[in-house]
Amino acid sequence: MDKEQPFAVGKSIRRIDALGKVTGEALYPGDIDLDGQLWMKIRFSDRAHARIKAIDTSAAESFPGVVAVLTAKDVPCNEYGLVTKDQPVLCGPGSTIADADTVRCYMDNIALVVAETEAIAAHAVKLIQIEYEDLPPVFDPELAMLDGAPQLHEDRPHNIEQYYRIRKGDLAGGWAQADVIVEGEFSTGYQEHAYLQPEAGLGYIDEQGRVTVIVAGQWTHEDQYLIAHALGLPEDQVRVIYPAIGGAFGGREDMSVQIVLALAAQRVQRPVKIIWSREESILYHHKRHPMRIRAKWGATKAGKLVAIEARIVADAGAYNYTSSKVLGNANLMATGPYECENVHTDAYAVLTNNIPTGAFRGFGAPQAAFAAETMMNRLAHELQIDPVELRLRNCVREGSHLSVGTPLPAGVSMPQVIEKAALESYWTRDAGGWRRQTARESSDGQGAIRRGIGFAAGFKNVGYSFGAPEQSWATVELYGKTEIEQVIVRHGGAEVGQGTHTVMMQMAAEAVGVPFECVRLIGHDTAETMTSGSASASRLTFMSGNAIRGAAEQALSAWKNEERPAKATYRYRPPKTTPYDPETGKSEPNFAYGYVAQAVEVEVDTETGFVRVVRVVSTNDVGRAVNPQHVQGQIEGAVIQALGYTVMEHLVSVDGRIRNPYLSTYLIPTVLDVPVEVKSVVLEYPDPIGPFGARGMAEMPFIPLAPAIAAAIFDATGVWFDQLPLIPDLVVKKLRERGIGVV
Ligand code: MOS
Repeated sequence: MDKEQPFAVGKSIRRIDALGKVTGEALYPGDIDLDGQLWMKIRFSDRAHARIKAIDTSAAESFPGVVAVLTAKDVPCNEYGLVTKDQPVLCGPGSTIADADTVRCYMDNIALVVAETEAIAAHAVKLIQIEYEDLPPVFDPELAMLDGAPQLHEDRPHNIEQYYRIRKGDLAGGWAQADVIVEGEFSTGYQEHAYLQPEAGLGYIDEQGRVTVIVAGQWTHEDQYLIAHALGLPEDQVRVIYPAIGGAFGGREDMSVQIVLALAAQRVQRPVKIIWSREESILYHHKRHPMRIRAKWGATKAGKLVAIEARIVADAGAYNYTSSKVLGNANLMATGPYECENVHTDAYAVLTNNIPTGAFRGFGAPQAAFAAETMMNRLAHELQIDPVELRLRNCVREGSHLSVGTPLPAGVSMPQVIEKAALESYWTRDAGGWRRQTARESSDGQGAIRRGIGFAAGFKNVGYSFGAPEQSWATVELYGKTEIEQVIVRHGGAEVGQGTHTVMMQMAAEAVGVPFECVRLIGHDTAETMTSGSASASRLTFMSGNAIRGAAEQALSAWKNEERPAKATYRYRPPKTTPYDPETGKSEPNFAYGYVAQAVEVEVDTETGFVRVVRVVSTNDVGRAVNPQHVQGQIEGAVIQALGYTVMEHLVSVDGRIRNPYLSTYLIPTVLDVPVEVKSVVLEYPDPIGPFGARGMAEMPFIPLAPAIAAAIFDATGVWFDQLPLIPDLVVKKLRERGIGVV
């Protein structure tokens, strides 16, 4: 690869936002105050499923210090949703939208109270009287699909929000060829994003009369569009600004306080501020989908995969959010990064009266990979073939087709990634193939602590999938007479804490051919930038880099021709993708991927069921590490977040209500849970269409960790686990059932 370029790409340049965040100077939405601001509180639903017959706001309105109370009748166009506009902004009677009088989950918003102080708003919001007529709820997605189950949305028969299927090859013929067949049923839990900063923001009218919202999100222009839609305003009358953002992970992809802040500010014509408590944040934003996956995999004695069948049921909760898209990804990933001629899948995203589920790092891939990679590890065990060896015999390579019947985009590095991951951890290769290098310390049967090793692989799409429109705009301005002294880049991509602004500036410096210090970035403001798409789907480096590079090339030629000003705006559009064929699932799902493989070592305390992850080796093909230290940060962050998902994080929902909405009861990893070693192994097989060869990489280290840990627990104990999270209660119970760890 071309390492000639000396300017900025490939260097671990210090993040431009690092100092401000360390000193506390950086302002997050909750830190910002405007003159004359009021405070807002939201009244949420008290029911999982009910019709609101009446709302009495008189006591709240007459409470001293209350400035306004808003309900459904105050919303000009009372609907929103990132993919499907199926959710009322405020639920209640008198709405512009039929059915908006129904609450379908506890996170539904019913009324807004704007007051002189936060305490007054908090008190007055409780004075609102709501008369409900209860409707029968349904909390189990399997039950929700049955005839006669309560219906959440009229246009979604059997509560099926989305269904996908794949029909490839001859499944019966595949089973006939199989010497070994394994079957499994997997279930995964919710995951809470637990970003550092709960939802917060301000709404106000800016100097040009625009309804303006300062908030933390993942896509300024999408927030702008959804606010404008609900308020019935032209988009240019709405402005969205992101200040510093304290993490996102998919949890800020959908609306939280955006629309209600805009509504309130427009109504009172004064700045309005809201800060959610941690409890509100956990209760009232979407979660990672719990999924149930039934899988059946067959292989020949020689270790060739010949048949895969999978059924996926995802609990979408009460509204779509991004469920239809997450399901598409899970359906694609259900066969793993492997070639198989005969595949049937059926995948359902099902509406229930639970909290809505949506985007979370990996976007459906972690759940599917937990099933697929565990099936691969179980097949390896049944066939007595090393798991690395079995993967290498089946994994996708250049020109391979996935289950959807089309070739992967060029630049497939799965075999190289698996080999490197094996060599960097516990494996060796000799004439007989791949085998584990170290003797198993686990199986001596002595003491309560047993040690095991596991392996898993994965892949992750970069960018929007299955025909979703994909684009990113950038503007580059060049200043200087005899040489370029300053580069101004405008790009809307959200800096959610991942370092993207620094990386954009590095790529701009590289594209123009100037030192990093010459670059200035203007972003995060719909009034200053064009749309960039969201900070999601591991796409921003790839998409912004190509857009910035395109703009830089045009601006450079203008500058060389001494045009003044030397400025260019460029829209990057990647190769087109196509949706699933409804019958066969055939499609061209994605334009780029990243590839990952991980080995883990765990200790299982067979007396307590506690699983300690001791060591993780994560090998990732990132195409080009634009900023190697950021890449390492993403790998370590994803691994620790996935560790929490796998062995710690247990969000309890009973009858649609989350019972542990506190970080004291919903446990996420702390520094004490971090493995002794997380080794980041970075490979750079360039993506043919990635900027400077870069692929997206921020999600993929999350994906294989859970199945790698499950394989390591099997190695340690001889017991396969098929349920997440692997909290001590669950682990110890199953070990006891097998007579392990009985003292
Ligand atoms: Mo992400 S889970 O694609 O916001």
